[in-house]
Amino acid sequence: MYIKNKLRFFVMCGLSFFIVVLLLIISISSVLTVINNNKVAKETAAALANMPSISQEDNSGEANVTSNRTDIDETVTTETNSTTVSSSSTSDILILVNKSHGLEKTYVPSDLVDVDLRGVRDTQLRSEAAGALEKLFEKADAQGITLYCCSGYRSYDTQKELYQENVNLYGQKEADLVSAKPGQSEHQTGLAMDVTAESVNLDLLESFGDTSEGQYIKNNAHKYGFIIRYPSNKTAITGYSYEPWHLRYVGIENATTIFNKGITFEEFLNEN
Ligand code: DAL
Ligand code: ZN
Repeated sequence: MYIKNKLRFFVMCGLSFFIVVLLLIISISSVLTVINNNKVAKETAAALANMPSISQEDNSGEANVTSNRTDIDETVTTETNSTTVSSSSTSDILILVNKSHGLEKTYVPSDLVDVDLRGVRDTQLRSEAAGALEKLFEKADAQGITLYCCSGYRSYDTQKELYQENVNLYGQKEADLVSAKPGQSEHQTGLAMDVTAESVNLDLLESFGDTSEGQYIKNNAHKYGFIIRYPSNKTAITGYSYEPWHLRYVGIENATTIFNKGITFEEFLNEN
């Protein structure tokens, strides 16, 4: 009887001990699970904060994604073409495009319009520049100066063909003085127009600068916001030989400053 009771006592003790240990294990395991869940939640929150979240319902998510894409574009273009402007400035009328500042292959101005003026062929400009050129032609007409549009906006691909034609005709060294490589032409901005006259057989010749039409352009274009972009004796700065026919729209105030100071667009931008 005594031994039987003693045995039952030990069994009960063992059982109790086992239950206590089991409860302890369950408790510790629960505490560890809670701690781990908190850690995962914090990591997830931090990751979401650094993401350009497109799942956000307001516009900021989209803006983040767009700005990231811009970064990618700039990086890729810089790798393939050392002459790149940021896409954020392409719509600026003071955009600089030259041999060291190029445009994306895909850049097309968003506000191109058909130029409704006398011309050698149909062509386009950005709307602000087209409006200004219409005023210039109107005033010139009134003074008996008959101008013709020759070439306004040109796509990257069109410029590529033109440049290649010039290389084939004159060799690359000469071509580089009269024709821009694709992505480096102001014509891709939609802010440049080549003008001509019957006095030079509607051609683009240096002698245009000496004609009454060329002189009119030289002395009056700034009043409508245009500059002669490639003046004579400025090749070292602009990279191109004299083009009395190539007008570039920069706005009346800027054009007037450039005209009065007798400087190139490059010099004007460095002074500002
Ligand atoms: N003739 C100018 C430089 C151009 O090709 O854009
Ligand atoms: Zn031109």
